[in-house]
Parts: sequence; C-alpha cells; structure tokens
Amino acid sequence: MLINNETIIKDNDPLMRSKSKVVKLPLSKEDRDILLDMLKYVEESINPELAESKNLRPAVGISAIQIGIPKRMTAIRFYDVDKNGDEILHEYCLVNPKIVSRSTQKAYLENGEGCLSVVEEHKGHVVRNARITVEGYDFLRDEYITIRARGYLAIVLQHELDHFEGILFYDYIDKNDPFKEIENALVI
Ligand code: CO
Repeated sequence: MLINNETIIKDNDPLMRSKSKVVKLPLSKEDRDILLDMLKYVEESINPELAESKNLRPAVGISAIQIGIPKRMTAIRFYDVDKNGDEILHEYCLVNPKIVSRSTQKAYLENGEGCLSVVEEHKGHVVRNARITVEGYDFLRDEYITIRARGYLAIVLQHELDHFEGILFYDYIDKNDPFKEIENALVI
C-alpha cells in the first residue's frame, strides 16, 4: 500500500472523526501487511532523502484510520533518551491497545503537537496525562504487552490512540486561551 503525504487522509475528511473497529486476532495477512506498511512509513519518514523522494512527512506514529482503514492499529517508532542518558528506540505495532490507567498529573509538549492528517499549524498546549499504562497486542513482539509510558512516549501513545476515537490533537487546545498555564503540568 502506498502511504505518502498525498494518500494520507486529512482532517477535512469525516473519516478522521469516525471510530475505529476492534481488530480480530490472530491477525489476517492483510492486517499484518497494513502494520508493516505503517511502520515502514514512520521509519522512512525520518530519513531526509527518502522523505524527499517518496513525499513523506516526518512522523513518529501513524494510525490505520489515517490511511483510510478504520481499525484499531497503530505503528510508533522514534528514538528517545532514557533516564541514564542512553539512546533507546521505541518501536511498536499495536493492535487494540487500551489505556488502562492515567496519572492525574498533566503534561504537554512545549512546542505543541502536529499530525500527518493536519496540514495547518495549531498552536497551543495540548494537555494530556503525564503517565499512562497501555495494554494491547504488539505485532512486532507477537505478544500482549503492557507499556508504562511517561514523557514523550506517553504523549505519542495518547495522540495515536485518540485517532481510534476520531479525536484530533487540537481538540485539547483551549480556544480562548491556547497557552493557558496548566497547574502542576509536566512540560516536555
Ligand atoms: Co495524528
């Protein structure tokens, strides 16, 4: 399946507001291929030459609804630094992931969020939970996993899982006061 900036569904399409369906396990060949294609997209998208030649916008995650498939599947891939200062790769192909707990503490990205399906810039604090626990099947590891996420990973997971519900990041920005001070919030 060809995934590039032209084929990715944008937020003017009502599909982006629809709810995605639970995926049947074990995965069909079709669903496995969709996950691998999405993972390939995010991997290639951060390579400047490939991004240029294949018309890819850099991304750390993509959900199936963004390629027109209303199924609860997402691919996430990015490098981060762990608490010891070592580089680590976060890489997941999640199927039917669910947030099972959320911290009361809030968090937002200092520079705001973006999305492959959103062309215009939306400035402001996208207020989310600072820590979450996610459970779901991971196709890469071929097992059910529990992710205890904090920091950037927690933000990315919430962003991608919101796509299953038809929620977009700018829904969380306070329209009257986009840069409103959030008490106790973790700024990432
Ligand atoms: Co998005």
